[in-house]
Amino acid sequence: MMSQTAPYLLTPGPLTTSPETKAAMLSDWGSWDDDFNQVTADVRALLLSMANAPAEEFACVPMQGSGTFAVESALACAVAPEATALVLMNGAYGKRAAQLLSMMGRRYITLDTGDYLPPQPEDVAALLHQHPDISAVFLVHCETSSGILNPLEAIADIVHAHGKTLVVDAMSSFGGVPISLADTPIDVLISSANKCIEGVPGFGFVIIRRRLLEAGQGRAHSLSLDLHDQWAYMERTGQWRFTPPTHTVVAFQAALRQHQQEGGVAGRHARYAQNRDALVQGMRALGFRTLLEDRWLSPIITTFMSPDDPAFVFNAFYAALKARGFLIYPGKLTEAESFRVGCIGQLDVTIIASLLLAIQEALSEMGVSLSSQTWSP
Ligand SMILES: Cc1ncc(COP(=O)(O)O)c(C=O)c1O
Repeated sequence: MMSQTAPYLLTPGPLTTSPETKAAMLSDWGSWDDDFNQVTADVRALLLSMANAPAEEFACVPMQGSGTFAVESALACAVAPEATALVLMNGAYGKRAAQLLSMMGRRYITLDTGDYLPPQPEDVAALLHQHPDISAVFLVHCETSSGILNPLEAIADIVHAHGKTLVVDAMSSFGGVPISLADTPIDVLISSANKCIEGVPGFGFVIIRRRLLEAGQGRAHSLSLDLHDQWAYMERTGQWRFTPPTHTVVAFQAALRQHQQEGGVAGRHARYAQNRDALVQGMRALGFRTLLEDRWLSPIITTFMSPDDPAFVFNAFYAALKARGFLIYPGKLTEAESFRVGCIGQLDVTIIASLLLAIQEALSEMGVSLSSQTWSP
């Protein structure tokens, strides 16, 4: 049984954090102070080790802001201005990467597989063969807009075999789904503080090959998002270039400690997968359908199709659940009405069971009828 209290955030982040993580924010820290610099150094080293990334080949560069700031800084550094990128998209975050490249004036082509299908490794291979000018491939690991877990390892092997750079947006998966940079040929991996490591929002981080960082010097289109400069300054001084989110960084160090205590990525993955299984099973018993087939369901977030019954109105459903202490997430599909429920954060199957009960109550309050409503705790 987890020790935090409602509201529970059944969202992909910001998410429910532990009392210990929240308590770490009760002290103030000097941004230039050695004690704070030590926290930053500790966090950077722990992230490299969580990614199983050899420190002589990779560096971890934190970047102030939300996850998108880190994605933007990573793309600006890893995709040369004269190069072409291939963006694999099957949802909002692949689309956002293309938008970022377009705003930076970088050339790219896309492989768009719609809302609920993964990019196929053989299609990626065919495109790389057809377009030898592609230098980098961008893949979202868990496309949070549907919850699909894309085939990272198979695509990484193809990209590596063609000698291209692979940039992975692992925003919503890193720390909750195993990824090993020593075993999988990934060149750039991006995530943020408020996802599977269960910190609070305020910064993202990029784990990137040192040779790419060095090649990225002078490429940035933006002063504040210059990843090379952030890295070079941090290496030289131990400090962040501009004001760091001090409380967030200290809370993140506490969250990393708890991640280790839970058994690292394997431990966290096991809990999230249990949450997902309990959720999907309970929701199907209530008559809901998942967008995705079972084999693509990530342990991060699940998309459910909205019932056809006109009595089902998302905003009323949301409010009824909120009144019971649960915050869910709207859908982000381009075509069908849906909503999403997250499995990450300080949640366990007991909380999922309470959520299912609340969903049952909300449906009956709204007068929504589904084909079956037989879930029982
Ligand atoms: C896969 C993925 N990429 C990028 C982002 C963007 O992160 P942010 O909203 O923190 O800018 C998110 C946010 O949920 C995400 O899930």
